[in-house]
Amino acid sequence: MPRIIPVDAEDSTTLGDVVEALETGGFDPRDEENFASFAPLLKKLANNRTFLSDLVVEELEDRCNGQKMSNQYSSQVIMLYNKSNRFMIRANFWPALTDSIVQHSGTAPFFYDVAHDHNFSFLTVGYLGPGYWSDYYEIDYDKVAGYDGEKVDLRFIEKARLEQGKVMLYRAHKDVHRQLPADAMSISINIAETAPGLEYRDQYRFDVDTGHVSSIISALGVEPLLSIAAHFGGEKGKEMLDHYAAHHPSARIQMSAIKAQASVAGSVDQRLAILERAARHSHPYVAAMAGLRAKALETSRGWLEQEAP
Ligand SMILES: [Fe+2]
Repeated sequence: MPRIIPVDAEDSTTLGDVVEALETGGFDPRDEENFASFAPLLKKLANNRTFLSDLVVEELEDRCNGQKMSNQYSSQVIMLYNKSNRFMIRANFWPALTDSIVQHSGTAPFFYDVAHDHNFSFLTVGYLGPGYWSDYYEIDYDKVAGYDGEKVDLRFIEKARLEQGKVMLYRAHKDVHRQLPADAMSISINIAETAPGLEYRDQYRFDVDTGHVSSIISALGVEPLLSIAAHFGGEKGKEMLDHYAAHHPSARIQMSAIKAQASVAGSVDQRLAILERAARHSHPYVAAMAGLRAKALETSRGWLEQEAP
C-alpha cells in the first residue's frame, strides 16, 4: 500500500513556499526517497488552515479564471499549481454518499469503487474531514502485460483511510486502491508527478474481486486520431498507420493502429486476417487484445453480414 510517512511538524507554510521548495530544492519525482523527503513540506501546507479557502475566494472573485487556465479535471479538483513539467499541486474533494452531489451525480465521477493503480507517483495529505477510505493492494507491474481480462497477482494489504494530517506516498505502478467514499465531506492535497510523455505510461482498472485487469484507463488523445486517419487520411494516413502498427514504442498505440487498419479492411474476413495476424504478435498485450477483438468480430459476423432488408 502507499508508504505512510510519519510527520509530526506542527508549524505551517504557504503554497508559494511549497512551490519554491519544489522548483529549487532538487525535487525528483522518479526517486522514491527524494519524493518522500518532501512529506514534511506537504504536512506543513496542510497545517495552514486558511490558504485553500483564501484561494477559493480569490478564484470566485476572478470568475475562476485561474482554474479555467490550469485545471483539466472535473469540479472535484482545485488546481493549486500546474506550471512545472515535474509536478503539480492539487486539492481533491471526497464527498460522502449522503452528500447532495453524490445523491444527484452518483459515485462514478468520484472514482469510488473503481480499483486502479496510477501511472504517476504522488504525495497526499488529508486536509479536511475524516478522509476517503481505500482497500489497498499491490501489484508487480513488470509482470503485467495489461490486456483486458488478464489474470494478475493483486495482493490485498489492508483497508485504511486518509485521515487529516496523514501523509502517504502512492508509488506509480505499484500501489492499487479501490477508493471508497469518505464518511463526511473530505479534502486531500497532492503533490503529483508530471512528466512529458507520462500519458504513454499505462494506468489500469482492476476487478479486485476476481483478480483481473479490466482495462487501461489512462486517456491518450492520439487513439481516436488513428481511426480518423484510417478512414479519411488517404495514402499518407495509411502509411502512417502501417508505421505506428509496426514500430510505435507503445504497444497500446500499436494495437490502436491495428484496430484502425482492420476497421477499413473491407469484409469481415479481411478484417479478421489483420487481427489474427496481430494475435501472433510478439508483444503479449497486442497479441491478447487482437485475439479478443478477432473473437468478438467472429461472434458478430452474422449480424455484420446480414442482408439489408
Ligand atoms: Fe487513485
